[in-house]
Amino acid sequence: MKRLAILGSTGSIGRSTLAVVAEHPDEFTVGGLAAGQNVKVLAEQIRRFRPALVSVRDKEVAGQLRDLLPASEAPELLWGPAGAREVAVGTGADLVVSAMVGAVGLEPTLAALQAGLPVALANKETLVAAGSLVMATARAQGVAIIPVDSEHSAIFQALHGQRSEDVHLLWLTASGGPFRAWEAERLDQVTAAQALKHPNWSMGPKITIDSATMMNKALEVIEASVLFDLPVDKVRVYIHPQSIVHSLVEFVDGSVLAQLGVPDMRLPIAYALTYPRRLPLKSPSLDLCQIGQLSFEPPDTTRFPGLALGYAAAETGGTMPAVLNAANEVAVAAFLEGRLAFMGIPATVAAAMEAHDPQPLESLEQILTVNHWARDFAHDWINQRSRAPGRRAHKRSTGAL
Ligand SMILES: NC(=O)c1ccc[n+]([C@@H]2O[C@H](COP(=O)([O-])OP(=O)(O)OC[C@H]3O[C@@H](n4cnc5c(N)ncnc54)[C@H](OP(=O)(O)O)[C@@H]3O)[C@@H](O)[C@H]2O)c1
Repeated sequence: MKRLAILGSTGSIGRSTLAVVAEHPDEFTVGGLAAGQNVKVLAEQIRRFRPALVSVRDKEVAGQLRDLLPASEAPELLWGPAGAREVAVGTGADLVVSAMVGAVGLEPTLAALQAGLPVALANKETLVAAGSLVMATARAQGVAIIPVDSEHSAIFQALHGQRSEDVHLLWLTASGGPFRAWEAERLDQVTAAQALKHPNWSMGPKITIDSATMMNKALEVIEASVLFDLPVDKVRVYIHPQSIVHSLVEFVDGSVLAQLGVPDMRLPIAYALTYPRRLPLKSPSLDLCQIGQLSFEPPDTTRFPGLALGYAAAETGGTMPAVLNAANEVAVAAFLEGRLAFMGIPATVAAAMEAHDPQPLESLEQILTVNHWARDFAHDWINQRSRAPGRRAHKRSTGAL
């Protein structure tokens, strides 16, 4: 039995992880759960999986959760960053599933690695914001970071048994999102409801918007470069609208290995939970004849400037990717609240990157400070350009506000 601590249990990845656990009760127990504020779902998870320790976003939410649970069913309840860290390191976990959304996932993930615990990593923002720090910690402790992101899981699987010096390029695939074929002018008019409809994947709101702007692929390019220790120019992107080929590795002899599967996050999650074993899953088989055609095209960084910003941040390195990530988080939230136009998202990120004086990456404290600065910068930048509170910031077709 493998004991899991799940950070972000109420989210899309968290719930899919618990679906894998429920399908294989003989394989896993749940030692701890950490979540934000969805107390209804969390209370159901507590009843079903009986974790000893649970943490939520703050004390008030902890009170709401306590009210939902009979005393006999209540686990030890904590809150805030300290609570999430305790779930990661204090529940006797064999594996920590890092699936919070955003840079908030960095501290508990790093704490798990510092405590010598392996991590199944969905929270890509952790590697974007503090890549070299996180990888150095994992190396120093001799623990694995096993990717959950479907693209990185595909590469991880394709690399299994291969020599790293034989790798020529990594090819990440991207669906292109709901606006892949839209004219640049139409992108100005995109609404949150349109952007939240991903053609192939059902995911949390932030990553769904990131997929629509292609900022998700920018984050993933940085994630892949850090995780697989390759210069960012060795990480390339194909648009692959069917989301069947999850990513590819090109070797020095020209041979290419890809991993294919139906778009179902339970597959990479289960692989990360039991690597190098594979679990049988009640998932539909991949029927390539029914799919008929797999197509590929180059990304368009003019209509989707977020991807180019990702490469630029990775080239600059140091604290710059943390700035890209933090500004993007704020911009996505503002877009979802109707305070920022769709193309204002990459424009906000570009402005924050331009204003930032990058430093070599040194410590968690430094990253948290930079994260804070970039969030403040993005808030101010968006507020200055909003016509009025609650109204959309005005926009131009160049992608600048
Ligand atoms: N969804 C996918 O298919 C997918 C695929 C690849 C990678 N990822 C990555 O996996 C991560 C999670 O994505 P998701 O789609 O599962 O997101 P999501 O559905 O929005 O879930 C996010 C989780 O984080 C929790 N959370 C948010 N703020 C928190 C805070 N301050 N303290 C503690 N917990 C907090 C949420 O809790 P509440 O809901 O209770 O507030 C929820 O459990 C992201 O980094 C994403 O990029 C996701």
